[in-house]
Amino acid sequence: MNDIIVPATKENIAKAAEIIKAGRLVAFPTETVYGLGANALDPDAVKRIYAAKGRPPDNPLILHVSGIRDAAKYGEIDEWSEALMQQFWPGPLTVVLYSLDCVPLIARGGLDTVALRMPRSSVALELIRMSGLPLAGPSANRSGRPSPTTALAVLDELAGAVDMILDDGPTTVGVESTVVDATTPTVSVLRPGNVTIEDLRRVVDVTDELCPQNEYMSPGTRYRHYAPLLPLILWDGEEASLRELIDGLRWCYMGLAHPPAGAEKAKVFTSIGEYARELYTTLRELENCGADVIVAELPQALGIGVAVKDRLLRAAGR
Ligand code: TXA
Ligand code: MG
Repeated sequence: MNDIIVPATKENIAKAAEIIKAGRLVAFPTETVYGLGANALDPDAVKRIYAAKGRPPDNPLILHVSGIRDAAKYGEIDEWSEALMQQFWPGPLTVVLYSLDCVPLIARGGLDTVALRMPRSSVALELIRMSGLPLAGPSANRSGRPSPTTALAVLDELAGAVDMILDDGPTTVGVESTVVDATTPTVSVLRPGNVTIEDLRRVVDVTDELCPQNEYMSPGTRYRHYAPLLPLILWDGEEASLRELIDGLRWCYMGLAHPPAGAEKAKVFTSIGEYARELYTTLRELENCGADVIVAELPQALGIGVAVKDRLLRAAGR
């Protein structure tokens, strides 16, 4: 075993907090995916994140905070954004607000806004509290790769670039947080996640579509994302079309429907929640299965299916 991955005990979280305070990097669990954490207020520490991930400098980071009062130190909270935080924090919702000046420009990709999230994971919260700092925390993968949902996946992605990986087992949600632009009273969804548009509508006004300015508003969505090593082919569930898609190729499969015979390896999920939770782990497994392509079934865009579909489309380069 390596000594970078350590169990997320109180003692190790305290050590991790010292590493953060010293301006270095710790990978930490959240309920969505593992994050690559650094002191968000230290530009040099934030630079290390961009370097470790190979991340474009104009793609801003999420600041992980310990609650609404903590958030108020970094962003301008309005009535509607406070309502969102009250309802969905701690949890998989990231709220984009106008930034206060204390947040270094490098952490927000040069924008006048800042993304804030209070995670539900007790390990993440303990790390924020013990370090006494907001944690800049992108997903702990190399830029463009699937997000890690286990400590081992973090090691595969970032060995040598991270000082400690706090292991708290596989994450429970599996896809990254919902990101909303809450700089206006009618909010828009920049990235779909486990908190759905329907959930948000119970609390605030939400624009109908995924943000029409998605590309501009959430710089991260501009780049290819979540891509496995093998080409990813998306299947709409029609057997005939699958036969055409994989004509002559060795293929492996993941989805909710049982695939026709012939896959090198197949992962069939029993629910859309399981598809979300195991999406990235399965992509990582299948990219090493010796086939030519991965076929993934596109789920219906309902509930967390919206997020799974979004990630699959991006992973396929659409
Ligand atoms: O679940 C999650 O959100 C995970 C865990 C670790 O918390 N983090 C995560 O971070 O997915 P990252 O960096 O991989 O994705 C953050 C997304 C990117 O699409 C980024 O462009 C967007 O949030 N974002 C960050 N700050 C923004 C801002 N000020 N305005 C618009 N979008 C922003
Ligand atoms: Mg990411």
